[in-house]
Amino acid sequence: AATLREAAEATGRFMGTAIADGRLSDGTYTGIASSEFSSVTAENVMKWDAIQPSQGQYNFAAADRLMDFAAANDQQVWGHTLVWHSQLPSWVANGGFNADQLDQVIQDHINNVAGRYAGEIAYWDVVNEVFNDDGSLRQSVFLNTLGEDYIADAFHYAEAADPSAKLCINDYSTEHTGAKSDALYQRVSQLLSEGVPIDCVGFQSHLILDQYSASDIQANLQRFADLGLEVVITELDVRMDMPADQAKLDRQAQQYRDVIGACVAVTGCTGVTVWGFGDADSWVPGTFPGQGAALPWDDNYQPKPAYTGIMEGF
Ligand code: XIL
Repeated sequence: AATLREAAEATGRFMGTAIADGRLSDGTYTGIASSEFSSVTAENVMKWDAIQPSQGQYNFAAADRLMDFAAANDQQVWGHTLVWHSQLPSWVANGGFNADQLDQVIQDHINNVAGRYAGEIAYWDVVNEVFNDDGSLRQSVFLNTLGEDYIADAFHYAEAADPSAKLCINDYSTEHTGAKSDALYQRVSQLLSEGVPIDCVGFQSHLILDQYSASDIQANLQRFADLGLEVVITELDVRMDMPADQAKLDRQAQQYRDVIGACVAVTGCTGVTVWGFGDADSWVPGTFPGQGAALPWDDNYQPKPAYTGIMEGF
């Protein structure tokens, strides 16, 4: 294969990237984004604070730009994300809504956002990061006001707003087995038994260099796939302590290869998305001080060993 998207396509899978709206005017960036990837996820512009910053006031311009970019480049769009405690405007987080009011706020948001793009979005992260690391449900305005039913309700609202999108639950530190993954497994099983329209599970996979087990990831993806759901690696990156060196970059390449391989070994694992492709655009240095070099292209958009690792993983 000449590109990652071709390598993925040869196995019947998609290869995606998060897209930073601010980079769409850079030809080097858009050249790689369009040629190497068959799926795009909005890194920020479909989040609640970006798309409905005050009640009833929607900013669709940047999200529309991503939709147009995807259409021009024959790419699917992964919608990210409808209900999340973070990047949530304070009019929702601190709005003092009672349960009926907040339920209506969520329904309106999903209707307007998922409804606008109905038929054009392949997958939606309906809920994002609803768990704590110990597997309990995360405290948020949603849980605290509505109780755990807000999760099922969000899926029903999304199904009504866009019946053709596949509807996913997405989280981090769930790619390996463990308490958080077990809680996700129980939750998803329960939602399915209640007839909640859930189609897929997203495993963010913000990994740390040398901290992974490909066989454990594969087994974990497989148990979710065995529930009849699609499983997807949705936000892959592999960060390392800076500075990077050749030995670390080579181990990173192996790690990317092994994680892609874990997906390819699971029939129900239908694609992989990296959380950006060039190190200069990565969220990692700003979020994890002292760490970086997490993506398959370097600061100058030159492919790293990790690029070849992904290619060989498919
Ligand atoms: C991150 C973006 O990459 C940053 O630009 C932003 O400042 C914060 O959010 N899990 C998610 C993503 O689901 O939305 C987050 O994206 C990274 C962690």
